[in-house]
Amino acid sequence: MSQNIFLIGFMGAGKSTVARELRDQYGMRLIEMDEQIEAQEGRSISQIFAESGEAYFRALETRLLLSLEQESNTVVSCGGGVPMRGENVAAMRLSGKIIYLCASAETIYERVKDFHTRPLLEGNMNVEYIRSLLAQRTPKYQSAADITVAADGNDVRAVCEEILQKVQTAAKIG
Ligand code: S3P
Repeated sequence: MSQNIFLIGFMGAGKSTVARELRDQYGMRLIEMDEQIEAQEGRSISQIFAESGEAYFRALETRLLLSLEQESNTVVSCGGGVPMRGENVAAMRLSGKIIYLCASAETIYERVKDFHTRPLLEGNMNVEYIRSLLAQRTPKYQSAADITVAADGNDVRAVCEEILQKVQTAAKIG
């Protein structure tokens, strides 16, 4: 696949799992944005938020996306907040297709509840909070997306097949 794939969606929607499957089954290169930022900074996302603030982290996300313009055959697992900035969406559009993995607040809660790696959910680990942040973000996810794939309940292989089929169809049309 010459195009890059940017996986967007809420925390816990399954972006990292799907991205690893696309790497393992389809030979795509994988960029996990949070991991790359942690490696660059030499500290965890939680530490970055606590020590330098969210705005600093958001600037790192944008810088990383802008540096990916020359990539090909790469799947990028984006942090859940990436599509909130228009400049991030523009950077993704320049080099690939944007896939929104959508999932319900209940599914998301089940997937994130035992982890303490996401500063935005610390102290807010409940379905009601997730539902309200998801509702706030959904319009941005939807308007950024070239393709939307349901990630609730579907097994990861089926999700990958649906993504690749829809990307190929979109490439033929567009
Ligand atoms: C965030 C999502 C996280 C991480 C950071 C902020 C968000 O990534 O980038 O904690 O704003 O939704 P995942 O979506 O990979 O959990």
